[in-house]
Amino acid sequence: MRKKIVAGNWKMNKAFQEADDLIYDIVKLVDNNGAKGVEIVICPPFPYLELATDITENESVFVGAQNVSNQESGAFTGEISAMMLNSIEVKYCIVGHSERRKYFNESNHLLAEKADICLNNGIIPIFCCGEVLEERNNGNHFDVVKSQIVESLFHLEPKEFKRVVIAYEPVWAIGTGVTATTEQAQEMHAFIRKLIEEKYNKGIANDTSILYGGSCNPHNAKELFANPDVDGGLIGGASLKADDFYKIIENLL
Ligand code: PGA
Repeated sequence: MRKKIVAGNWKMNKAFQEADDLIYDIVKLVDNNGAKGVEIVICPPFPYLELATDITENESVFVGAQNVSNQESGAFTGEISAMMLNSIEVKYCIVGHSERRKYFNESNHLLAEKADICLNNGIIPIFCCGEVLEERNNGNHFDVVKSQIVESLFHLEPKEFKRVVIAYEPVWAIGTGVTATTEQAQEMHAFIRKLIEEKYNKGIANDTSILYGGSCNPHNAKELFANPDVDGGLIGGASLKADDFYKIIENLL
């Protein structure tokens, strides 16, 4: 069945004590007010992942990493492997965020390897796709998103693909305060679901969670999540405050 998911991408923010406080605050809000039927994921920076998996043990909050190496193990100084993430109970990993595509030149080919290595090590990839403003203005947004998905995910066997979560994040909406309209989000999410149906089948397409990301906040989440093909959100800025993050979650309950 298709899961409703709200994932918080903390990016490169928070010192240790702040991270500790934020994780406790989120867990407390969820414990006190509930979040039935919504999978809540927090994606703190690497040094806080084990802290996060410890605090959220036995809770209905799960932990994701923001990145992973495309290599299994060995002489890759500074890299973090999927096996390491799995060994500290990390459940998800963001793959292909636009900031990694832009600043670290991550290609669709490399992201295919990262998706594979996650799946081979029991980690669920949250695969990000989305067009830049120029591509939307040129009317190329559907083609761009299609090639990102085809080139990085469509080599997967159906049983592997079934475990993938997709996040549509129009790059022009990330961290800008400009959100996609509810129509723009629904249109792209429906397009992505159709691609999945054509490649795999209707059942798999229906069961795939497709999240929206890009300036999603407590004020616009309700409208965005009301779309039939929007199954939750990947939240950046608004995930750094427990209250805001929980208010976003509430819109899916
Ligand atoms: P934002 O970031 O919510 O701050 O726009 C979303 C993301 O980058 O995942």
